[in-house]
Amino acid sequence: MAEFKEAPAGAPALTQATVWLQNRFPTAFEAYRFHMSEYYAPKNFNWWYFFGSLSLLVLVIQIVTGIFLVMHYKPDAAKAFESVEYIMRDVPWGWLVRYMHSTGASAFFICVYLHMWRGLIYGSYRKPRELVWIFGCAIFLCLMAEAFMGYLLPWGQMSYWGAQVIINLFAAIPFVGPDLSLLIRGDYVVGDATLNRFFSFHVIAVPLVLLGLVVAHLLALHDVGSNNPDGVEIKDKKDPKTGIPLDGIPFHPYYTVHDLIGVSVFLMLFTAVVFFAPEFGGYFLEYNNFIPADPLKTPAHIAPVWYFTPFYSMLRAVTDDFVNVLAGLVGVAGVLAFLMGGLKGIWKFVPLVAAVVIAVLLKTFDAKFWGVVVMGVAVLILFGLPWFDRSPVKSIRYRPNWNKTLYAVFIVVFVVLGYLGIQPPTFVGTLLAQAGTLFYFGFFLLMPWWSRIGEFKPVPERVVFTAH
Ligand code: HEM
Repeated sequence: MAEFKEAPAGAPALTQATVWLQNRFPTAFEAYRFHMSEYYAPKNFNWWYFFGSLSLLVLVIQIVTGIFLVMHYKPDAAKAFESVEYIMRDVPWGWLVRYMHSTGASAFFICVYLHMWRGLIYGSYRKPRELVWIFGCAIFLCLMAEAFMGYLLPWGQMSYWGAQVIINLFAAIPFVGPDLSLLIRGDYVVGDATLNRFFSFHVIAVPLVLLGLVVAHLLALHDVGSNNPDGVEIKDKKDPKTGIPLDGIPFHPYYTVHDLIGVSVFLMLFTAVVFFAPEFGGYFLEYNNFIPADPLKTPAHIAPVWYFTPFYSMLRAVTDDFVNVLAGLVGVAGVLAFLMGGLKGIWKFVPLVAAVVIAVLLKTFDAKFWGVVVMGVAVLILFGLPWFDRSPVKSIRYRPNWNKTLYAVFIVVFVVLGYLGIQPPTFVGTLLAQAGTLFYFGFFLLMPWWSRIGEFKPVPERVVFTAH
């Protein structure tokens, strides 16, 4: 056991209490030191760095409001809808708790998308932060599962039919699909059994995993240290005497205060939505969801909530014609790899054989199945980002200028896909979504090639920072 310290005689009560705690719980003090007062973060963080702590804030908002919602919500197909109405009308402050939770869901995705975008432009996923990124991607998957299951709980028309459509997608998987969708549903149609299991996953299973992943995300980050807008490793230049990075400042108080600015602005926007536009034009709470679920009446247009729509759009883009285009592209890639891949002997034929096998598989299974694959891979591909990017520099600041245009187009394509996913399908919309899907995948799959070309700017030895 570590040696007990003594508070100086006559010390104030607070000092005495601190010493008492230090003797009994040194780990807590050590954690505070390691993660806050002696965690040296780069001094050039900009406002893009607000979104990590804001995601953490929204996580807390969701958990706290969720706890209060569960006190009054009934996970029963016959009572769920009216229990939400009861929360809105009769439970004191129930409307506030519910609107905070529903707005929080969208706010979560806004913060996380901006947080991921920051990681993308500054190369924060690159060595040595690959694991931080991977934990982040796993968080993103969990968040999607959490939002999808939560959306069923109010048992409105969109809850019901959205779940019906998405769970039916699993049935498109060859061989195991129909059994898998039955397992998820717990019944032949979405019903009470589905509601009960989604409730259980939404309030306990997924949040537990989410919390564990967030802790792992932050521990991994603090082990390797934060990146910054210049993509310079501050640990490479340390004060020889203290061993502290020359460009590092203690997280507390500097960034706790800095983050408070972000929190203040965020809370202004968040409360403005909660109090003045909680439905947010039907984007945060869909109008059809104010109608109780009716298994006998399919709504004319079923669309997921906005944060899923870029991926939903990619799912819908996969038509029979699109599968033919994909088969053609695979063929071209196979021939190019055969001619220019540099493989020797019998290995030269591997890309050709692989292309033929993939093309046959593409034509064997239904386009609906490939749609599900495209949607799933569109999310899973993010895990590979640290290995796709071969650029000699991390941050967009020192990449060739045309990279900025490429990243801007990427974001526009992602937003357009999101918009198209909300709209009912049209001929032109589907064509646009198909072009967008090809661009999205091309961006990642061709990254090992394009990230290496062009003229890179010299990266400074130390971070660039002008005090304001
Ligand atoms: C519940 C969701 C999440 C929470 C609470 C969270 C929290 C945080 C916090 C507090 C930081 C440090 C502050 C900052 O750099 O902004 C951070 C850093 C980071 N996060 Fe997340 N995060 C979440 C989701 C994600 C996701 C989905 C990804 C990517 C797929 C991701 C990737 C990263 C990366 C790469 C860093 C290091 C950034 C750098 O050093 O430049 N995070 N996260």
